Amino acid sequence: MSFKKNVVLFVFISFLFNCKSEESIAEIPQIIPIPETQTINKGHFILDSKVGISYDATFKISGDFLRKFIQEGSTIKLSSTNDIQFILDDTIKNLEGYTLDIQPDKLLIKAKTDQGAFYAVQTLRQLLPNEFENKTLSGETVSIQCMTITDAPQFQYRGMHLDVGRHMFSVDFIKTYIDALALLKMNTFHWHLTEDQGWRIEIKKYPKLQEVAAFRNETLIGHYSDQPHQFDKTPYGGFYTQEEVKDIVAYAQARHVRVIPEIELPGHAQAAISAYPNLGCTGTQVDVATKWGVFEHIYCSKDETFDFLEDVLDEVVALFPSDYIHIGGDEAPKTNWKTCAQCQNRIKIEGLKDEHELQNYFITRIENYLNSKGKQIIGWDEILEGGLAPNATVMSWRGTKGAIEAAKQKHNVIMTPTSHCYFDYYQSTNPDEPTAIGGFLPLEKVYGFNPIPSELNANETQFILGAQGNIWTEYMPTEDQVEYMAFPRILAMSEVVWSKNENKNFADFAKRVENFNKRLDLLDVNYANHLYEISGELTSKNKSTYYQLSTTLQDKTIRYTLDGTEPTKTSQTYNQAIPITESLTIKATVFNSEKRLGSIFSETINHHKAVGKIITINKEPHKSYPGSGPQGLINGISGSDTRYGDKEWLGFWGEDLEITIDLDTEIEINSIKTRFHNGNGQWIYAPKEMELEFILLDGSIVTDKIIVQNQIDKILVDVNYKFITPKDLDIKVKAITLKIPNYGTIPDGKQGAGNKAWTFIDEIKIN
Ligand code: ACM
Ligand code: ZN
Repeated sequence: MSFKKNVVLFVFISFLFNCKSEESIAEIPQIIPIPETQTINKGHFILDSKVGISYDATFKISGDFLRKFIQEGSTIKLSSTNDIQFILDDTIKNLEGYTLDIQPDKLLIKAKTDQGAFYAVQTLRQLLPNEFENKTLSGETVSIQCMTITDAPQFQYRGMHLDVGRHMFSVDFIKTYIDALALLKMNTFHWHLTEDQGWRIEIKKYPKLQEVAAFRNETLIGHYSDQPHQFDKTPYGGFYTQEEVKDIVAYAQARHVRVIPEIELPGHAQAAISAYPNLGCTGTQVDVATKWGVFEHIYCSKDETFDFLEDVLDEVVALFPSDYIHIGGDEAPKTNWKTCAQCQNRIKIEGLKDEHELQNYFITRIENYLNSKGKQIIGWDEILEGGLAPNATVMSWRGTKGAIEAAKQKHNVIMTPTSHCYFDYYQSTNPDEPTAIGGFLPLEKVYGFNPIPSELNANETQFILGAQGNIWTEYMPTEDQVEYMAFPRILAMSEVVWSKNENKNFADFAKRVENFNKRLDLLDVNYANHLYEISGELTSKNKSTYYQLSTTLQDKTIRYTLDGTEPTKTSQTYNQAIPITESLTIKATVFNSEKRLGSIFSETINHHKAVGKIITINKEPHKSYPGSGPQGLINGISGSDTRYGDKEWLGFWGEDLEITIDLDTEIEINSIKTRFHNGNGQWIYAPKEMELEFILLDGSIVTDKIIVQNQIDKILVDVNYKFITPKDLDIKVKAITLKIPNYGTIPDGKQGAGNKAWTFIDEIKIN
């Protein structure tokens, strides 16, 4: 990890806190995730070398952690007194709950379990000066405001995932990642260990997994959508030895983090099949994948494959004490199964209907095996297809449908919908962001996530165990980049899964993040900082249009220009919405009294004949991709070229659309332009064609058809229709309907095969 340059600036801040007089009004501390209740009391507890900690074996992990944190983070030498006491309190209901009671002469940590006490310690840690984190505290006395905090988590599963298949990271980095989870009271590390592009866990019985499957010849350069594909011609790979795995698992246990390994099956198995071609249906020698996506070489359902998988799982089970083993189950194209004699024979002798039921057979057989070893399985939501394995926990990633279905079948669920939990998506619309897979998932959207789908009744919600942020690393080749994508969104996720809804408030959270970043500076974390970015919104009032600017942190000054120049310290201050009467470009940025804090925000508004008119769509956009509603398609603002989840793109999943724009009076029109996203890796496909209906004043209708050029190598597909008014007819149009059929079920051989395609549409410009 790289060193931050601005660390020193922040070192002194907590001394201000320490020097506060007794009389000053103490502020509520800026803990993340926010505790259930916090009451400030009079006085301070003085932490110095006269203070001692007492705890018995029940609180070994939490007690040791606190002792070490104080002694290694400062020059304070703890004594043998018992001013800081760990107390077993059976009246605390939640196993992970705690009370932290800071009084002038003692500091009490009460919990029912070591885990609860550990979370009290993490809270206390955030009450201590940041300099404890990197041992830069000078002085041997720290004054802590007296207060009482009672706290407990909302969800029992609070996780972060990390894909080490696409890119791999050092053991030290994995430990740092686990440290972050512990600090944020998260209790699960989902370690995605096998992929098409690399097998990363040592399996002693199968040495070729280490020799062959762990290495690829080269790696795709740039984005998957950049054509033609180019490669770096550099071998890449590695794996974690069983000793390293044990070390990581023990490290996590000492922080109350359980490690759930994921061994992908039957899909995402090309690396294993490259080492042992017999594991596939065709026996063909394939290479470890060098680019991203979904691959057709999946495990064959013959006995030989199950023997291999059982051997692998035997070694995995011996390494991981976790009750759960994740078995993948996602994105397994059935192409090879359809033509494989052995798979077809399996379907016949087992009396299965089709390849989907064969997938269910595959998962259930593995589940039975793991159950016999005392383990439960978790699988991605595709394991619902063809029937759910009897005791499986479903990880719902393709929206919330899988979660709802599973909970209604009384199966446990972990929420990781792409819309709110995929931290490989862009977090800013700033064009300078490092390349990401696509999408748009800003901090506020993660923060607003409610893991409980509204479709579930009170009985069914008990099956939602919690949620998890996912870090898929196709576009994260370095540890720095993983941190950049994880932080600060992991902070938001920690509050989503820990804190009570009624205690959550994004403006307050953003201020706490600004403060927390000082701690992250000392921890050397390469977090992204978009707190000073501006966002804008077009609004209408009394038939006039305005543009509103805002920032995440509400106490900052925005300055802007309308003449295309960069705003400076003396540019106009923004304090009311900007009236829009013509095409223009707004540039704005945030300043404090001395300098610019954030990047330059730029928005171009292109007036056209539909701006301010009325638009209706026969289908609601998908609730994860509502843009700014139908009106956003005719607000004069185009969506980002890469962030299809921004406010200007509307996303629909598998829907045929009819969009009608009522032009109010009859208007002479010449052209209609729009564009579709075509990010096939995210199952987004531009429609193949669309139909136009022009409704004239007399009610008559003129129709026409557009063939949309759906080119796989273009991530954005432009539609540019010219309307030719017949000279002798003087036609004017009162309304226009665009009929846009969905691309349909994605065919075999394409990304997302077998799933419904998404349609993403941008501004509809009428001139
Ligand atoms: C997934 O993102 N394929 C689970
Ligand atoms: Zn087969």
